[in-house]
Amino acid sequence: SSFSRRQLHSNNSPTSFGIAFDIDGVIIRGETPIGNSPQALRKLYDDSGNLKIPYLFLTNGGGVPESKRAADLSSLLGVNILTSQVAQYIRSLTENRKRFQNALVLAVGKGEPATVMSEYGFKNVMSIDEYASYFDDIDPLSHYKHWTCKTEFAKNNASKEKALTESVKAAFIVSDPVDWSRDIQVLCDVLRYMGIPQEESRPQPPVYFASDDLEYKAAFPFNRLGMGAFRIALESIFNRSTGSDLVYTSFGKPNPFVFKNAEAVLKQLLMSTHNGDNVVNNGESGSQTFKTLYMIGDNPSVDIKGARQAGHPWFSILTKTGVFNGILQNDREFPADLVVDTVEDAIDYILKREC
Ligand code: G3P
Ligand code: MG
Repeated sequence: SSFSRRQLHSNNSPTSFGIAFDIDGVIIRGETPIGNSPQALRKLYDDSGNLKIPYLFLTNGGGVPESKRAADLSSLLGVNILTSQVAQYIRSLTENRKRFQNALVLAVGKGEPATVMSEYGFKNVMSIDEYASYFDDIDPLSHYKHWTCKTEFAKNNASKEKALTESVKAAFIVSDPVDWSRDIQVLCDVLRYMGIPQEESRPQPPVYFASDDLEYKAAFPFNRLGMGAFRIALESIFNRSTGSDLVYTSFGKPNPFVFKNAEAVLKQLLMSTHNGDNVVNNGESGSQTFKTLYMIGDNPSVDIKGARQAGHPWFSILTKTGVFNGILQNDREFPADLVVDTVEDAIDYILKREC
């Protein structure tokens, strides 16, 4: 229970601990740091810039390879963030890699979804943008879409031939889809008919979503529609038009494996930083077990629910800078162990409690 978790240790007991940060609504909104996040993160490093406290980011967002996300966050936040500190759940899909080793799969979402999938070892990935570009008139509304940054594809003949002749074996929604109307249309096409013109019916190719957040917090004052909202839209239309239920799998928080995986990564960080004698490990030398892992999030039904389900040694901290608006003292359905104003308050609380 959350009561017993709160009793795990007192201020003066030696402990080892780690921290997982949500990104959108905790560290940044849009492209802007919030809650004094750059200064707050600096408290996790020593004066020479070496990592003292093992921490990572657990984000349901994505769309760029983890190495690029780490570099972007490093320059935005002014600390040196390692690729291993940036977890994106679409990574769980590597389990599916063998199954789709050579099969044509679609990658959907903002950024560079096909690059992300290729980096995870998928050999025959095409972005939905490129795929759609090979079919004239696939989007009857395209003439009305005056995008400012339209991607031009090389229109390589081999890829075109592949798109026109091979059936899509799976679709991966890697990050927030950009052009919902086109993406829903094309996904319904590939899930229903495309590439198998002669066949009457076949099992629906699997669809994977990197996460299932109904909402998240970006730069606009109100919550924005997330990948879960897109999933509902696709599912409703697919179900209505086919008479059968869309079969899909979603990853990301609040799934328990995300928190298990985070714990494993934090252990590795603890060991590597401890070898360099940087981490505050307070007498737990050689131990790879954390007494407490802190999840700092802004979304009760994603971050806090996930940490609560993960149980010991997770301790959840909810900020008021994102999806949770702070009108109530805590979320009713998924109350956090602690509610604070900002991520800096969360770090100050943790350091005071632990160090
Ligand atoms: O699109 C991003 C959003 O779904 C959530 O990101 O960092 O709050 O898990 P985050
Ligand atoms: Mg968030």
